[in-house]
Amino acid sequence: MACTRGALIVLEGVDKAGKTTQCKRLLEALRRSGRPAEMMRFPDRTTAIGQLISAYLEKKSDLEDHTVHLLFSANRWELVPLMRKKLEQGITLIVDRYAFSGVAFTSAKPGFCLDWCMKADVGLPKPDLVMFLQLSPAEASLRGQFGEERYETGVFQSVVQQRFEELRKDSSINWQVIDASQSVEDVHKNITTHSLNTVDTAHNLPLGELWK
Ligand code: TMP
Ligand code: MG
Repeated sequence: MACTRGALIVLEGVDKAGKTTQCKRLLEALRRSGRPAEMMRFPDRTTAIGQLISAYLEKKSDLEDHTVHLLFSANRWELVPLMRKKLEQGITLIVDRYAFSGVAFTSAKPGFCLDWCMKADVGLPKPDLVMFLQLSPAEASLRGQFGEERYETGVFQSVVQQRFEELRKDSSINWQVIDASQSVEDVHKNITTHSLNTVDTAHNLPLGELWK
């Protein structure tokens, strides 16, 4: 009997690229088409670990850099049983940031290499599709100021952008680069096309393990 699992779909990209808006639009589109779907986001700030991360991002606490990296990873691992359960139930998961953000942000700090950063996330459920919402720093800045949180500076974000470029060279991942400078509607159409293809083929494929 064919398995009927849901697909694991991740949206990544720099700040202001429109990830959250597009995740919500995609969720509606999949549901309207009769495909069960739910949205998740990382960090998930609602768990005990997520609250430590949130305080760090809001600059209410300081954490050592390796430590916070491992907390971000632990925050994904703690949700793996739930993710697997939903996927097995045939629910497609649309995820706002994943291990790729984890690696891109930490490895943008001095003294961290991609290899070390990837280790903690090896073996996570492997996304069937990772869409990277591409937006130049110049276009991002036209969309408004950065917020107050840690990492929200132009200099840091441009290093993060370079790290994402490195990660996108990995051909074991189904990367799709989406031009996020288009209208919300056009980006949405593009994302929906890729997602429908993925959802309709994931049914027959086993769920992979990330970076293994
Ligand atoms: P967000 O809640 O606005 O998406 O922002 C979370 C911030 O945390 C964002 O700057 C990216 C960063 N981040 C990491 O540093 N490591 C991670 O593993 C994840 C998921 C996000
Ligand atoms: Mg943010």
